[in-house]
Amino acid sequence: MLTILEKIPTEDPLNDQAQREIIDQILEENKNLAGSTMVVLNALQESIGFISPAMQVYVAQQLGEPISRVHGVVSFYSFFTTTPRGKHTIKFCVGTACYVSGINQILEKAKQILGIGPGETTEDGLITLELCRCVGACSQAPVIVVDNDFQGRVKPNRFPKTIQDLKAKEE
Ligand code: FES
Repeated sequence: MLTILEKIPTEDPLNDQAQREIIDQILEENKNLAGSTMVVLNALQESIGFISPAMQVYVAQQLGEPISRVHGVVSFYSFFTTTPRGKHTIKFCVGTACYVSGINQILEKAKQILGIGPGETTEDGLITLELCRCVGACSQAPVIVVDNDFQGRVKPNRFPKTIQDLKAKEE
């Protein structure tokens, strides 16, 4: 098992002393709880901002769980990320109402403008794109969520303005 952790990338949180202490503290505080895997992963996502592949291996080792189980949980739930999110997140609702109202066209526009797809972050670390399930605003479909703000009835030709507004906030 150690051999996997010996290959931890230099920039991984496990190689940062302060972050490693946080990770170990979360594991120590929660390892004996029922459902500890989910509790630990939630706390790591919250505190570190993402759960790297090396962190998944470490969590599995510390909790005595198969790596495949920890990896399966991280992959299944969209609120877990394996790389740091950008400063801003744009989520695209892919529920049925948004799907039939053309969310894919908005997503294509985002890909064209930013050069990234869902689950990816722009090189400058500013914007992450994600897919999400129905956010309960179907009458406004298609819906995107920019950070915590809902935007409904989004049109592909209005989407560039969303990006401009985010960039303007940084100037
Ligand atoms: S399907 Fe998108 S808000 Fe319901």
